[in-house]
Amino acid sequence: MVSYKDLGLVNTREMFKKAINGGYAIPAFNFNNMEQLQAIIKASAETKSPVILQVSKGARNYANQTLLRYMAQGAVEYAKELGWENPQICLHLDHGDSFELCKSCVDFGFSSVMIDASSLPYEENIALTKKVVEYAHQFDVTVEAELGVLAGVEDEVASEVSHYTKPEEVVDFATRTGCDSLAISIGTSHGAYKFTPEQCTRDPKTGRLVPPPLAFDVLDAVMEQLPGFPIVLHGSSSVPQEYVDMINQYGGKLPDAVGIPEEQLRKAAKSAVCKINIDSDSRLAFTAAVRKVFWEKPAEFDPRKYCGPARDLMTELYKHKIINVLGSDGKA
Ligand code: G3H
Ligand code: 13P
Ligand code: ZN
Repeated sequence: MVSYKDLGLVNTREMFKKAINGGYAIPAFNFNNMEQLQAIIKASAETKSPVILQVSKGARNYANQTLLRYMAQGAVEYAKELGWENPQICLHLDHGDSFELCKSCVDFGFSSVMIDASSLPYEENIALTKKVVEYAHQFDVTVEAELGVLAGVEDEVASEVSHYTKPEEVVDFATRTGCDSLAISIGTSHGAYKFTPEQCTRDPKTGRLVPPPLAFDVLDAVMEQLPGFPIVLHGSSSVPQEYVDMINQYGGKLPDAVGIPEEQLRKAAKSAVCKINIDSDSRLAFTAAVRKVFWEKPAEFDPRKYCGPARDLMTELYKHKIINVLGSDGKA
C-alpha cells in the first residue's frame, strides 16, 4: 500500500471547494508519456495552477503503473525545482471501469479515482460507485462518479447518442453513493470529432463548422438540485483549428474535426463545474508539432528533435487553457 500523501500529492476535496467558491475550474490533463507530463507541470508551475494528472486505463497499460506513479512523484519534485513552493497536484484515475481497477489505483498511490459506471443501469451504477467510495474514503482518496452517457466512445462503452444527465436523479445518486464529484452529460463528447457536420452550421466567412451549444439548461438544473456540489465535464477539448490545419498541411488527414468552443468552457468554469477534462487537444498539439518536423526535415531521426517541439507546443496549449479558459492561474 502506497499513500499518495507520501508522494506529495493531494486529493481533489480542497481544490474543488476553492474552485467553486472562486468561479474557476481545475484543469484535468491526461498524460501517458514524459513530454506530456513535463509540459503539464511546467505550465502549471509557471502559472501556479492546481492541476489534476489523469491516467486512463489505456494509459496505465501503455506506460506501466509503477512508472506512472514514480513519474507523478517526480512531477511533484520537478514542480518544486521550477519554483512552485507548494505544488497542488492530484493523480487521478480517469474512467475506471471496475472496483478492482479503482482499488488497485488507491493502493498504488493515486489521490483520486473515477468510477465510470454510467453505462450500467441506474441502481447498478449506484451500487458499484458506493463500493468504490467506501473503499477509497478509508484512505482519504476522493471519488468521481458519472451519471448520463456522453456521445461517442466512453472507453470500451460505445454510445451513438448523448443521454443527458437527468437532473431529477442527481440528489438521490450523490446521497446514496457518497461520491465527491459528479461527471455529467450536457453535450460534450470525447475525441476530435465531437459533432457531425450535420449537427453543426457552417461559418460562411471561414467555412468552419460551428457546433451546437452545450445544454446549459441541464447544468443549471443539476446545480439547482445540488447547490455547491462539484461537477465535472469530460470531453472538453476545443480541437484548436490551428493544430488541425497544421496536421492536415503536413500530411495528416483530419477533415471536419470539431470541439467545444472555448467561450462555452469559460462559461462552465465560472459555475459549479470545477474540473474540466482535456486530452485530445494535447494529442493534436503533439501530433501537429511532430508532423511539422517530419515534413520539413525528413532526414531527422533524433526523437528529441521532434518530441521537444511537441513538448513546447503542449506547454503553450496548457498555459492557454489555464489562463484564458479555466481561470485557475494563481490559485495554488
Ligand atoms: O476519456 C478518454 C481519455 O481521453 C483517455 O483516452 O482511453 O485513449 O487513454 P484513452
Ligand atoms: P477530450 O477527448 O475532449 O479531450 O476529453 C478528455 C476526457 O474527457 C478524458 O476523460
Ligand atoms: Zn472522459
